[in-house]
Amino acid sequence: MKPLEIKKNVYWVGAVDWDLRDFHGYSTEKGTSYNAYLVVDKKTVLFDTVKVELQKDLLANIRQVTDPSKIDYIVVNHAEMDHSGSLPEVLKIVKPEKIFCTAKCKDALIQHFHDESWPFEVIKEGDSIELGQKTIQFFDSKMMHWPESMVSYIPEDNLLISNDIFGQHWATSERFDDKVDQGELYWQSAKYYANIFMPFATPAQKFLKKLKENDLKIDMIAVDHGLIWRKDIDKIIELYDKWSSGRADKKAVVVYDTMWGSTKKMARAIGKGIASQDVSVQVLDLRFNHRSDVITEALDSRAIILGSPVMNNNILPGMGGFLTYMKGLRPKDKIGGAFGSYGWSDKATKILKEYMDDLKFDIIGDGLSTQYVPTDDVLNQCYEYGVEIGKAVNAG
Ligand code: FEO
Repeated sequence: MKPLEIKKNVYWVGAVDWDLRDFHGYSTEKGTSYNAYLVVDKKTVLFDTVKVELQKDLLANIRQVTDPSKIDYIVVNHAEMDHSGSLPEVLKIVKPEKIFCTAKCKDALIQHFHDESWPFEVIKEGDSIELGQKTIQFFDSKMMHWPESMVSYIPEDNLLISNDIFGQHWATSERFDDKVDQGELYWQSAKYYANIFMPFATPAQKFLKKLKENDLKIDMIAVDHGLIWRKDIDKIIELYDKWSSGRADKKAVVVYDTMWGSTKKMARAIGKGIASQDVSVQVLDLRFNHRSDVITEALDSRAIILGSPVMNNNILPGMGGFLTYMKGLRPKDKIGGAFGSYGWSDKATKILKEYMDDLKFDIIGDGLSTQYVPTDDVLNQCYEYGVEIGKAVNAG
């Protein structure tokens, strides 16, 4: 993809990764992009780089704007390899006067690339540098989602260069939010938040408060992945506030794995009971729904209801994998519930409840289990369990 001037003398020079389908266990069915930016002023600055495999794309894009050797500074907002991987090669060509980053970022870069001779210039919250016509102000965004993370703000352009924050994994030839399907844009934004930022709700709240307190005028957010925001800045900031504060909709997800279809029958009956209370519900079989899509549905759901049959005195491996994933992401303020069928060892609901207890879910009842295939009477109990869950969702 060619470079694009996104503000006067500010260029997107990143790379599009059309083929990426897995990002540490998160399914990236639409690929992604690594968005580096170039600011041309008296001092020329490159913000972040790209994944090592795409370094030629980055350098080719830079060359279409300027000679790379004319870059004076590199700003590293985030040390993760998808943004820093090309640094060693880029540094050989660019030879920058300074690399601006936080102290933690400097440590992380040295631990990644083992070269202390790079021209690091450690900066901290509130520091700024003059480029000529433009200024860069730096703000710490610690634990969004790494300890060294920071964002850069150019006040003359009302431009926030936000590293991972507010991004989406979406490979496209379009660069701006208003150029793509809005339903897909917000689904991918929610998926990205759910699968990357969910464990960092408290740092997210602190970061959003900082944006507000500093009264930053922002009319563009240049993210490090996916589409640049220029149309609905307030909406994506408000959504991050909603997601990180734990505010949920009147919605539930029933997530299950099944062996011979008994737990599936129970899941569907519970789903019907929940829906009878005018609560929106998704009934998701883990054999057909990727864990990262399930967790996206769970993001704005008040209730997460889990079902598994018993196999070898344990839950099924599909549910085991999902629970490991969800335990890491730590969804908060959720209502929980457990169900499943068994042959001779009634263990699954106990195991499911242990996971939910650890996550401090407000668990409804003792859970529901049935031996082998559920009777109509058991399915009626499942429906009533769903009704109870629906009422709890409506009660907030
Ligand atoms: Fe896109 Fe945390 O790296």
